[in-house]
Amino acid sequence: MSNRILVLISGSGTNLQAIIDAAASEDYPGEVIGVIANQADAYGLTRAANANIATATLSHKDYACRERYDQDLMLAIDKFKPDIVVLAGFMRILTPAFVQHYQGKLLNIHPSLLPKYQGLNTHQRAIEAGDKEHGVSVHFVTEELDGGPVILQAKVPVFDGDTSDDLAERVHEQEHRIYPLVVKWLCQKRLIMQKDSEKEYAILDGNLLPTSGYANEE
Ligand code: GAR
Repeated sequence: MSNRILVLISGSGTNLQAIIDAAASEDYPGEVIGVIANQADAYGLTRAANANIATATLSHKDYACRERYDQDLMLAIDKFKPDIVVLAGFMRILTPAFVQHYQGKLLNIHPSLLPKYQGLNTHQRAIEAGDKEHGVSVHFVTEELDGGPVILQAKVPVFDGDTSDDLAERVHEQEHRIYPLVVKWLCQKRLIMQKDSEKEYAILDGNLLPTSGYANEE
């Protein structure tokens, strides 16, 4: 059965596009059934409309309180009856109530090799730290910001003289490869999140994934 994938965006939506494109293939086990943005001018909404996908906008600027916004966002999402909720450049800190509501079916992509560079300006921070490699992580979302279990990472080199834009472009290319793949694993139920009293874990094909995810080199 095809999984119903709901994508949340704030901006350009190139990761959304990569998932839409992957899902267009007949053997992909999911379908993007809705896109919700917190910014009315997010270009990803146009991408969704071009692919005949239903869209909605819920502006956080209309809310004084984060909890109320997330409550209404949950209502907007649940109208689509999704099996999986995918954060694709959704630039909001989520409340515990939101994260718990979608536990195990909420994915995020973050432009760094987590646990390095949680938060913003990751490319610039990697350059300033003199890192020789940088990258991207797909992880389950938990209450800790950018702290949930990593499922898959991809690395890119950092070259002398790279600007933050150079690095962002290199990282984006990898994002578009790994995100549709991880979404597919979740749709296939090969990937699950488990929790004990201390923390959450990502499990793929019955195996506990190491802290840097499936492609771990150690
Ligand atoms: C991506 O690089 C993604 O990793 C990042 O936003 C960009 C969205 O690009 N996400 C975060 O920084 C989340 N903390 P896109 O709109 O073209 O998919």
